Amino acid sequence: MSEKENKQRFYLTTPIYYVNDVPHIGHAYTTIACDALARWHRMRGDDTRFLTGTDEHGQKIQSAAEKRGMTPIQLCDEVVTNYKKLWEVLDISNDDFIRTTEERHIHVTRYFFQKLMESGDIYMGTYEGWYCTPCETYFPDAQVGDDKICPDCKRPLTRMSEESYFFRLSKYQDALIEHYEAHPDAIMPRSRYNEVMSFIRSGLQDLSVSRTTLKWGIPVPGNDRHTVYVWLDALINYISAVGYPEKGEKWETCWPNVRHMVGKDIIRFHSVIWPAVLMAMGLNPPVRVFAHGWWTVEGDKMSKSKGNVVNPFEMADIYGVDAFRYFVLREVPFGNDGDFSELALVNRVNSDLANDMGNLLNRTLQMIEKYRDGKLPPSSVFDRSSDIDSALRNLAVSTLADMDARMDDFSLDGALKALWTLIGAGNKYIDETQPWKLGKDDPDERLDIVLLTLWEVLRFVAMLVHPFIPNTAARIHAQLGLAGNPSEERYPDWNWGKLTGEVMVKKGEVLFPRIDIPKWKIGYDARMKARQVALDPAADKEASAAFDAEHKPQIEIDDFSKLEIRVAKIESVESVEKAKKLYKLNLDLGFERRVIVSSIREFFTPEDLIGKKILVLCNLKPAKFRGIESNGMLLAAEADDGTGEIISLATVDDSFPPGAPVH
Ligand code: MSP
Repeated sequence: MSEKENKQRFYLTTPIYYVNDVPHIGHAYTTIACDALARWHRMRGDDTRFLTGTDEHGQKIQSAAEKRGMTPIQLCDEVVTNYKKLWEVLDISNDDFIRTTEERHIHVTRYFFQKLMESGDIYMGTYEGWYCTPCETYFPDAQVGDDKICPDCKRPLTRMSEESYFFRLSKYQDALIEHYEAHPDAIMPRSRYNEVMSFIRSGLQDLSVSRTTLKWGIPVPGNDRHTVYVWLDALINYISAVGYPEKGEKWETCWPNVRHMVGKDIIRFHSVIWPAVLMAMGLNPPVRVFAHGWWTVEGDKMSKSKGNVVNPFEMADIYGVDAFRYFVLREVPFGNDGDFSELALVNRVNSDLANDMGNLLNRTLQMIEKYRDGKLPPSSVFDRSSDIDSALRNLAVSTLADMDARMDDFSLDGALKALWTLIGAGNKYIDETQPWKLGKDDPDERLDIVLLTLWEVLRFVAMLVHPFIPNTAARIHAQLGLAGNPSEERYPDWNWGKLTGEVMVKKGEVLFPRIDIPKWKIGYDARMKARQVALDPAADKEASAAFDAEHKPQIEIDDFSKLEIRVAKIESVESVEKAKKLYKLNLDLGFERRVIVSSIREFFTPEDLIGKKILVLCNLKPAKFRGIESNGMLLAAEADDGTGEIISLATVDDSFPPGAPVH
């Protein structure tokens, strides 16, 4: 196939994330999956655009801001940085990031609304119905049972009546059915297609698209008492980010090729409301809406109150970005629900990354170094390849096509499985050809052929794995002795054996050191315990006793120098409400004021503490106790004097100024 006939245009979007909270694994998952798809398409040479962003209007944001004593935009500006930072950490290659509070979005939303009012597809009416505030959705009587709880989130509904603009969704029922009958791939997976079709067939009602009760939203053109319904506002981001209604080149290339990736909970907004609005505007509906499943954690629903929310920053920090990316993409058939467990992640790292992929690279490079001083044999040796060599080459080439077909169906796990079949075949080839027996001075070049075949397989592996784990792919590429980055490769040019000139391999650090499970388990248990303590500080004592019972392994001076310990003066002490053991200590650190929450209340009165110069570990990551952010930890000795636990704070002479460093 020539590059030209195969070249596509590919515009891919993630949902835009609410900024009322910090990002978790669910947000990371969608974005990582989109990133892998976008990178894959760039590698194919496709004209690719990848958009993500944040959903910043609506009741949720207004309420979250009120709770924190901020204006909504202050909250948005703060939380949006968490998302941007996370995408940087996770190597997300988005081309654009849209915020719905940006002018480029606001004016398009108002334009949509204006046009739809002019065409009569938006009209004024009165809404009376059951409203779910957290979901920001009205439910018709028919969908609400006697218990009056939200059919989606199961929280109580409120009866509301308000003047509202409506979108004539009912008018588009037949057009939607016709469209989806003609385009069965427009909603994937198939089970979601069936679900949406039966929802549409059950009858669509007009949709309330404005609110008078909400201030934090985009004002309706010509009627400031109303703000645009946050879901309509949010959906329009996909189009405002590519320059509509000016319709320049970005618009022309993107819009006819748009694919939306969403979680299963928001499929209807994307496959019923959104295409109907687009039809009403005379625009094409999305080429595809793909709904992925949801993650549970260790078999349990993820929730803040359970304290089991998976923090993607933490996972990337502990296991590395690529291990985390690989795990979420490989573990679960894309589209299904999945269960997150760190042990499952560790097992995947050990078996797939350390063992299968890492070993193939290590064994190959070791042999090239040992038998050929690191220098690659010339590609002319391929002329004398035998069947076993050609079979592996054919597999490498067909893996590319196989993965391509799976990526077309958004089967990311399937694509990875196909790639690991190639990796497995590479390892088996080593076992079968037994290069170490071919020896150093092999006259008929068998050894050259085997080494070069393996090296070529690894070159393909680096390129094929790059969309999923870009950083690792770049490391493999470099160890193979190649210049540039796999992200710059375009696959019509990959030709097997294309290499001319001299290449020297550069064996480097092991890609994924094996994780020792018993050791890992100790750290894991300590983290789980700390999490419990954060939820319930009473567990703190138990945790620290268990911790002290063990001696710790030796450390380097560098480990110690990571700790920033300073003198702090206790300025005032407050008891923390509903927490018998906690004090909030207000400290003077010389260069700034600090708050530390500490479970020492049962040992000291405030008078014992005020004015003391204590030692504080001040570069500890912040943690929250009963809603109060604690920034650091005070140092104290702890013992049992026979009557119970006693504590003595580490203090210094009064002559020391606050902020003095401790070495
Ligand atoms: N703001 C809307 C989307 C508007 S798009 C025009 C929204 N935001 S969200 O931040 O609440 O959720 C974003 C995505 O995260 C959704 O696709 C949702 O499915 C996904 N997830 C939230 N929790 C999840 C899991 N536990 N597992 C997987 N994905 C989950 O909805």
